[in-house]
Amino acid sequence: MQMLRRPFAFLALALPAALAASGTAQAQDHVGRYEQTDIEFGARLYNMHCIACHGENGDLLPEINLRNTQFPNSPSDRALGENIRNGLPGTAMVATEYSDAEITALVAYVRNIGSIDLDSIAVGDAIRGQAIFAGKGECSTCHRVFGQGPRSAPDLSNIGALRTAAQLERSLLGAPGGTIPINRPVRAVTADGTVINGRRLNQDTFTVQLVDENERLLSLEKASLREFTILETTEMPSYAETLSDEERADVLAYMLSLKGM
Ligand code: HEC
Ligand code: HEC
Repeated sequence: MQMLRRPFAFLALALPAALAASGTAQAQDHVGRYEQTDIEFGARLYNMHCIACHGENGDLLPEINLRNTQFPNSPSDRALGENIRNGLPGTAMVATEYSDAEITALVAYVRNIGSIDLDSIAVGDAIRGQAIFAGKGECSTCHRVFGQGPRSAPDLSNIGALRTAAQLERSLLGAPGGTIPINRPVRAVTADGTVINGRRLNQDTFTVQLVDENERLLSLEKASLREFTILETTEMPSYAETLSDEERADVLAYMLSLKGM
């Protein structure tokens, strides 16, 4: 967190005026296109994985200054992400295993490096977040992680690899669209009129596997159902009020650390 708060303002002064001006115009574009939470998560990853070579300000290597917005081998964000993941052949930058969420964050940060004010604390401390997850936040009364906990809500063991930082933050704020489609609650009515409310674990063309409200695992044949609806409602509480900004930042850091077994 300390590092995320380093002031960037003085850097602009050090640059020639013309460069600084064009940098600002770019930055405005970028901040619109990239989500602040991803940029902040990217800053944290950058400090862990990139700073040794590229330096705190992205300008340590004589060959490449990350504060420029054009990179010779990365014409697009997609190419940039692939180069960060696969490394650049023939250079010191080697392949590293990053999740898609981490690549999204690193690209967002690199595109905004030096032009963004990292004052907030969107991504906090994962250890504290784990304690809140099990304690004050009561997340573990609904969610399962690494085989522990109920199945009534989505298993979050791999959520850090599946969702970007910005998406996870939206889930915590109870914003719509925060959930992976398959995790949306469903309602099924069987031929004999039995109503099943639950959540999909899996589905194919003909069948759907559900866990119902009583945590029973069911496999239903779609053709035999009278009704099958994906619901817009959610049982996921909003933590906008019940957790402080700092607590949410810690829980977010914990979720981002969940990348499967
Ligand atoms: C071991 C040192 C090292 C590490 C660690 C490293 N890089 Fe690099 N990076 C380099 C070198 C060397 C180059 C290539 C310079 C050149 O063009 O010859 C490079 C090039 C780049 C480029 C330019 C790509 C292009 O299109 O030309 C980007 C962007 C970049 N690095 C981002 C990152 C990010 C983000 C991280 C951390 C996730 C990272 N690097 C980690 C050494 C490193
Ligand atoms: C009362 C039960 C309940 C509690 C408590 C709860 N959740 Fe959820 N959560 C759900 C349900 C159910 C969903 C599935 C989405 C839906 O129903 O809209 C969900 C969805 C999510 C998602 C989105 C998963 C995806 O697929 O993208 C995340 C992330 C999440 N919860 C994290 C948390 C965290 C972190 C906490 C604690 C701070 C928490 N939840 C507390 C029930 C709960």
